Amino acid sequence: MKKSEYAVLGISYGLNDSAAGLIINGKVIASAEEERFNREKHTRKFPFHSIQYVLNEAGVTLSDITDVAYYWNTHGRIKERLFLHGKELLWRTGSLKKFVRYLNGILKDRKDYDIKDMLFPGLALKKHFPDHRHHYKLTTENHHDTHAACTFFQSGFDRSAILIIDGSGEIECVSLYLGEGNKIRFIESQKLPHSLGVFYGGVTEYLGFKKFDAEYKVMGLASYGKPIYYNDMKSILKYKTGIRFSLDDDYFQFQYGEETWFTEKFNHLFGPTRKSDEPVEQKHKDIAASAQLLLEEVLLEMCKYSLTKSGTNKLCFAGGVALNCSANGKIADKLNLDGFFVHPASHDGGTALGAALLVSSRKYDRHFHPGELPYLGPAYSNAEIESILKDTGKVKYHLSKNIEAELAEHISQGKVCCRFNGRMELGPRALGNRSILADPRNESIRENINIKVKFREEFRPFAPSCLIEDFDKYFEGVKDPYMVFTQKAKPITKEKLPAIVHIDGTARVQVVTSEINPSYYKLISEVKKRTGHGVVLNTSFNIQEPIVCSPKDALKTFCISTMDTLAIGDFIVEHN
Ligand SMILES: [Fe+2]
Repeated sequence: MKKSEYAVLGISYGLNDSAAGLIINGKVIASAEEERFNREKHTRKFPFHSIQYVLNEAGVTLSDITDVAYYWNTHGRIKERLFLHGKELLWRTGSLKKFVRYLNGILKDRKDYDIKDMLFPGLALKKHFPDHRHHYKLTTENHHDTHAACTFFQSGFDRSAILIIDGSGEIECVSLYLGEGNKIRFIESQKLPHSLGVFYGGVTEYLGFKKFDAEYKVMGLASYGKPIYYNDMKSILKYKTGIRFSLDDDYFQFQYGEETWFTEKFNHLFGPTRKSDEPVEQKHKDIAASAQLLLEEVLLEMCKYSLTKSGTNKLCFAGGVALNCSANGKIADKLNLDGFFVHPASHDGGTALGAALLVSSRKYDRHFHPGELPYLGPAYSNAEIESILKDTGKVKYHLSKNIEAELAEHISQGKVCCRFNGRMELGPRALGNRSILADPRNESIRENINIKVKFREEFRPFAPSCLIEDFDKYFEGVKDPYMVFTQKAKPITKEKLPAIVHIDGTARVQVVTSEINPSYYKLISEVKKRTGHGVVLNTSFNIQEPIVCSPKDALKTFCISTMDTLAIGDFIVEHN
């Protein structure tokens, strides 16, 4: 590279959702989560494969990198949590016992993490990449700053409020910023133990699902329940004003590093915890509905305040809580916003890219645009794909002259198909390039995919991908390309496309345009020629594993499944 050029590598690891992202001269080159390569869901291991991938994508090596940005201010975390928050806790509660538990929580973190790699990301890079020159300047960034940079700098907005809500950063659980041009300015934050992410994660765990992973199941379950436990929920999560609320730490113990986030007192209030293999009963649905309603109410107030405080009518939202698409849909419905951007990688998997964006904007004064979002992962050529197909020998395949039309034919015949095409998506949503697709006219296909293909709970809804020009015919709400909002389904949709309408009459729609994904747009247009509807059912291409990344993953998943057709690159693959 020329001397005037720069390359910023963002990295995240140590807590969850390890990832890497690369920006060269203001252009977002690539970003991917490590789980897709090492096949461990939400892995927090050092992102060796992701780093290798983003460097390869740009044709550079670590020796060419000018800056490395780590997504966490580890030293700040220890200092702040130990001295500031610990002192606050001691002062507020007057309880030495709680303070000792709190310190123990930090020490427990140490036991569980590769603390040396977290404390010294520079040494970790040298350890994992010993054969390179390490000329870069390394910075450790505040966690919420990286979320904020990720969502604002990819929103395309010139000026906007930025609201970050997750389990917790170093100590912050909610942060409000103002984004202007190529700068983000911190306004205020809400600190531990008052966390909406911990509240919802605790309820997720109580309902027998995996916290930090299955919060979306609680959101899906909520539609089947009545919020009859709302007042009980409200007694432990009290909204105050602005972005302030209090979470009763008699009911939650995340901040003490305990394995289980909720306490015995939570069980006294709501009854025994559901075990993961126990049936989901109406009571569980009602508890989910109550938690969801309260979360939505609190989020709505926070969003209103964020707009007033920042003096804008645009909002960028990120942090794990921003992936609650039911809440996002309601916020969009209730606030007449000029712009509402929710990043498709709002969870920690987006913060490696966020860290790189933050340093690029701060140090090199660049202004960004959404770029290739969300397709920032690896792609594979037909030659690479065919070499894997040849080796397998378990399938029959042929090269298609018109892959979109041929796959559309299979979908319209009622087959369950999977599609592997182009660059992999960043974030938890499969948006056409690593997706299982089906015809949504057939309601029974939902049960078929849930039980026979994905081996998951029947209450889980499936989302539609819809041509942008057909959106108004079937849905009302935000035309969103990233599947992070729910919209209202119109009566015709419930009647004609029942497989993609949730029990509460909503759907989580991906709007497909020829600009963002031309091949996927062509595919759905071909489906429309055959079915009369520019809509397909779309769920992620995986079975109990991270979403497939490579042709090898795709073929392995297809071979163990009962799915009918795999469209991979320009090949159509079927079982022998
Ligand atoms: Fe986070």
